[in-house]
Amino acid sequence: MVSIPFNRAALVGNEKPYMEAALLSGRIMGNGEYTRRCEILLSRLTRTKHALLTTSCTSALEMAALLLDLAPGDEVIVPSFAFVSTANAFVVHGATPVFADIRPDTLNLDEKGVEAHITKRTRAIVALHYGGVACEMGVLSEIAQRHGLLLIEDNAHGLSGAYHGHALGSFGHLAALSFHETKNYTCGEGGALLINEEAFRARAEILREKGTNRQAFFRGEVDKYSWVDLGSSYVVSDILAAMLLAQLECFEQIFQKRRCLWERYRTGLASWAEARGVQMPVVPAHCQQAYHLFYLLMPSEALRDRFIEYMRDHGIHVVFHYLPLHLSQMGRRFGGQGGDCPVTESACGRLVRLPLYYGLKEEEQQHILQTVADFTW
Ligand SMILES: Cc1ncc(COP(=O)(O)O)c(C=O)c1O
Repeated sequence: MVSIPFNRAALVGNEKPYMEAALLSGRIMGNGEYTRRCEILLSRLTRTKHALLTTSCTSALEMAALLLDLAPGDEVIVPSFAFVSTANAFVVHGATPVFADIRPDTLNLDEKGVEAHITKRTRAIVALHYGGVACEMGVLSEIAQRHGLLLIEDNAHGLSGAYHGHALGSFGHLAALSFHETKNYTCGEGGALLINEEAFRARAEILREKGTNRQAFFRGEVDKYSWVDLGSSYVVSDILAAMLLAQLECFEQIFQKRRCLWERYRTGLASWAEARGVQMPVVPAHCQQAYHLFYLLMPSEALRDRFIEYMRDHGIHVVFHYLPLHLSQMGRRFGGQGGDCPVTESACGRLVRLPLYYGLKEEEQQHILQTVADFTW
C-alpha cells in the first residue's frame, strides 16, 4: 500500500556539503560563519533590524520573555489556539497567561476581542500567524501602542508570509521563527529571534550567551567575558546553521514548491469541501501566506476523527493540531474553563492537516486528493 507521511524534511541544495564543511573546519560551536550568514539572510528576508539564531522558536520566545523583564503577576495575552511554547515560554519566566480567542476564518488571534483582556498588569500581546497567514497586524499594532504594550510575533509558521506587503516578523517589537523539522525551512531543531527595537539588541545577545558578554569579548570590545545578566544556552551549533543556510539560499524554490502543492489542494478540494460544509483555509487578500499548512475544518469532531482513521487506513498520515491551551492541565491552573474561547474549542476538535512538504510528489498528492474525495458521510 502507498504510504505517505505527514511530513518529510526537505533536502534541496547544499545541506550536505555545507554541513561537511562546517564539520571539517573544526569550528562547530555556535556563532560561527554559517550562523552569521543565516542571520544576515534572515534579517534581509524579513526586513528586520537584527536576527539572532537560536536553538528553537521556544528559545526565541523565552528570550522575548526575558527581555520583557516580567514581574510576578504580569500578564501576557496569548491565543488559546496555539502551540504550548507560545504561552509556556512566558510562563516559565514569570508571566500569567491570559487566553484569548481566535477568528473563525483565519484561526488567528481575534483582534476585536483583545482589548477586553487588557488590564493594568498586561505587558505584551503575542500574535501567532497560523499557517503563515498574518494576524491583523495593523489593528494589533495600534492596540499595543495605545496601551503601551509590547507586540511579539510568534512567526513559527510564517517565514515568507507578509501583511500588506510587509514581511511577517517585521511588525512586532520582537518576533520568533522556528526551523523545526516540520517547518518550511529547517535544520531539524532551530529558531531565531528577530529584533525590531534597537534597545533590545545588546541585551538579547547576552541572554543568548548564558548571561555573559562573550560576544563582546569575541569582538575584542572587552578583555574578558563574565556573568553580566540573566540568560541561558540559546546558541545553535554551526553545523545546524550550515544546514539552515543551504535551505535559506533556496528560499524562493521552497516557497514556490509549497505554493504549488497548496494551490493544488485548494483547487482539487474546493467543490468537495463546499458540498459537505468543510471549511478550507481562508487567506485575506492583503495577506501573502507562507503556504505552511493545508487544513480542513470538518463539520464535527466525530467526523474529523473518522477521517483521520480512514486516511490512515489508506496509508496517508493526516494529523490534528493544537488542543485549546486554556483547557489544558496547565491552562486550567490559570483559570481556564470550557466556554472561555468558543471558537478555539470548536476549531481544535474539527481541524485536520494534510501532508504538505517539499518532496511530496504530484502523483502522491493526486492519490491524497482522490482518497479525500472518496470519503463520504
Ligand atoms: C506556533 C508555534 N510556536 C512555537 C513552536 C515551537 O517551535 P520550536 O519547536 O522551534 O521550539 C511551534 C512548534 O511547532 C509552533 O507551532
